[in-house]
Amino acid sequence: MILVTGAAGKTGQAVIRALAFRGGAIRAMAHKPEQVELLSSLGAQEVVVGDMRSQVFFEKATRGIQSVYHICPNVDPYETVIGAFAIQAARHAGVEHFVYHSVLHPQTENMPHHWKKMHVEELLLESGLGFTILQPAVYMQNVLAYWDRIMGEHVYTVPYPVETRLCMVDLEDVAEAAALVLTQPGHLAAIYELVGCAPISQNEIAQILSEKLGFTVQAEPLSLEKWESQTRRLGIGDYQVETLLKMFQYYEKFGFHGNPHVLTWLLGRKPASFAGFIECTARRQQKIH
Ligand SMILES: NC(=O)c1ccc[n+]([C@@H]2O[C@H](COP(=O)([O-])OP(=O)(O)OC[C@H]3O[C@@H](n4cnc5c(N)ncnc54)[C@H](OP(=O)(O)O)[C@@H]3O)[C@@H](O)[C@H]2O)c1
Repeated sequence: MILVTGAAGKTGQAVIRALAFRGGAIRAMAHKPEQVELLSSLGAQEVVVGDMRSQVFFEKATRGIQSVYHICPNVDPYETVIGAFAIQAARHAGVEHFVYHSVLHPQTENMPHHWKKMHVEELLLESGLGFTILQPAVYMQNVLAYWDRIMGEHVYTVPYPVETRLCMVDLEDVAEAAALVLTQPGHLAAIYELVGCAPISQNEIAQILSEKLGFTVQAEPLSLEKWESQTRRLGIGDYQVETLLKMFQYYEKFGFHGNPHVLTWLLGRKPASFAGFIECTARRQQKIH
């Protein structure tokens, strides 16, 4: 049985779908009771509900488990503590394989959420557990947060310069890679960078959106001040706001560069391109409307 933590988030759902497709027996870790039905419908045989910030909950959740796929909530101030709880509980339960959903370039101290993931990786290396670490790039799916504005106003707004180049990956490819390392032998003690495409600029993203959607989409920068006031109005916490601001500043200064060779090898095929991802998304949206 494989325990998937952070199961009801967008990563968790994709991983559960991919694992269920391969016939994996899944115990999903939900945060709230209302997430149980969804997780069962995606293919989880068992669902446990609780708070990841509790060591006791982790000890219960890992009982009888062979493999753990650990996904920490996005930009969580307690990521290192949660990671330590997960690793400790896995050791107590005699887990054979602990797979950690990390991030591309965890060694960047200037991005606090990456740095916390690096500490969790360090704990895992020293835990004595059989491990695999996956380091995904920026999800292509993040663009969907701006979808209504792209479709309605034909504008793609980002809180960094439109020349900023970022490498991305389709979350569906990440989930397939996760399912592969969990269900096939040969991935112990491996650290894999999951990059779908070479870095592309925000202008290039707008150009691809224009080509695939059939109207001109303009990439527009949003000042950090405006982004901050909009985000604070949504009630997002101080740690998350400050961490994301640091990430945008990092992107502006250095971009985010990675190479798709490892993921290509792991999947045995080319990962999805951004153009391919947008084509699929547009087709799916047409079916819904
Ligand atoms: N987005 C990207 O581009 C990207 C790229 C690389 C890596 N990552 C990493 O991927 C991971 C997952 O991201 P995501 O966007 O899929 O996460 P997410 O949507 O934030 O999902 C996290 C899940 O964890 C649950 N959760 C939150 N607090 C919890 C707690 N205290 N105890 C138990 N469950 C809790 C959430 O439930 P509720 O909604 O009910 O709170 C949600 O179901 C993150 O670690 C992120 O750093 C993301």
